Amino acid sequence: MEIAYEELIRAAYEAKKFSYAPYSKFHVGAALLCADGTVYTGCNVENAAYTPTNCAERTAVFKAVSEGRREFRAIAIVGDQERYLAPCGVCRQTLAEFCREGQFEVVLAKSPVEYQVKTMQEIFPFSFSPDDLVHE
Ligand code: THU
Repeated sequence: MEIAYEELIRAAYEAKKFSYAPYSKFHVGAALLCADGTVYTGCNVENAAYTPTNCAERTAVFKAVSEGRREFRAIAIVGDQERYLAPCGVCRQTLAEFCREGQFEVVLAKSPVEYQVKTMQEIFPFSFSPDDLVHE
């Protein structure tokens, strides 16, 4: 799968500029590449009550799904630090809902040209998935 990761990472950095993180001061950006080539970006949105906080990754996924996209190819995730930022467990579960193994890549970047690519199997093995919900 040939994907222009650098472009996706740059979109994630642009989204990070909108991060609303007055409590943690931990700013995160994400850019989600859909199967049709469209890109949805997201930032983290915090709340004074803390628990309503939404991560950048889920913001991007919810924006995409709410506009009719359900097939995704990759997500780029960036933070402020000079280190790789891995998605939290809740975001991994959210991604697993839509991202089929082998067709989705998680791009962890610490600059537009320094990144590592992970599969869902690597970052979220033995997970609960839609296939586990068996209805008669
Ligand atoms: N956060 C994200 O947006 N994505 C991650 O992958 C890790 C954590 C946010 C949530 C919260 O606003 C802040 O970073 C500190 O946890």
